[in-house]
Amino acid sequence: MKLLIINGPNLNFLGIREPQLYGRQDYKALTAFCEESCKALGLDCEIYQSNHEGDIVDKIQWAYGKIDGIVINPAAYTHTSVAILDALKAVGIPAVEVHLTDISRREEFRHISYAGMACIKTYAGYGFDGYRMAAEYLKEYLTKGEN
Ligand code: DQA
Repeated sequence: MKLLIINGPNLNFLGIREPQLYGRQDYKALTAFCEESCKALGLDCEIYQSNHEGDIVDKIQWAYGKIDGIVINPAAYTHTSVAILDALKAVGIPAVEVHLTDISRREEFRHISYAGMACIKTYAGYGFDGYRMAAEYLKEYLTKGEN
């Protein structure tokens, strides 16, 4: 079972960007955390980060026929990108949305999630742990069907 973990714009600046919100651990620490979490769950994973909307759409399309589940933190594109929503719908791969922060408790413009409309579950506000929870949820979902 193979997961694709996608991170959107500015997440490569973790540790530098607004540490009071996103913490002091850097992007490398996040990828290591995701790799360890997937390994512990017996899952293969590929991790991808881009600051470009079209590249994220291309990566989602690439996943078709190759990947069993998607974990996605579209970052700022969460709140703007119908293209990412449509790509997730197009490939039909079960996807779980993750946000480090609780977007429902931040500025109003962060309350809408387009990508979330194509996701079976959202974890927001759990920091790095949200990625582990998403991988665990997908494993369960892919093994046992909808829960
Ligand atoms: C984020 C929340 C988004 O609103 C923001 O634009 C990000 C990160 C999060 O992980 O909390 O870049 O997706």
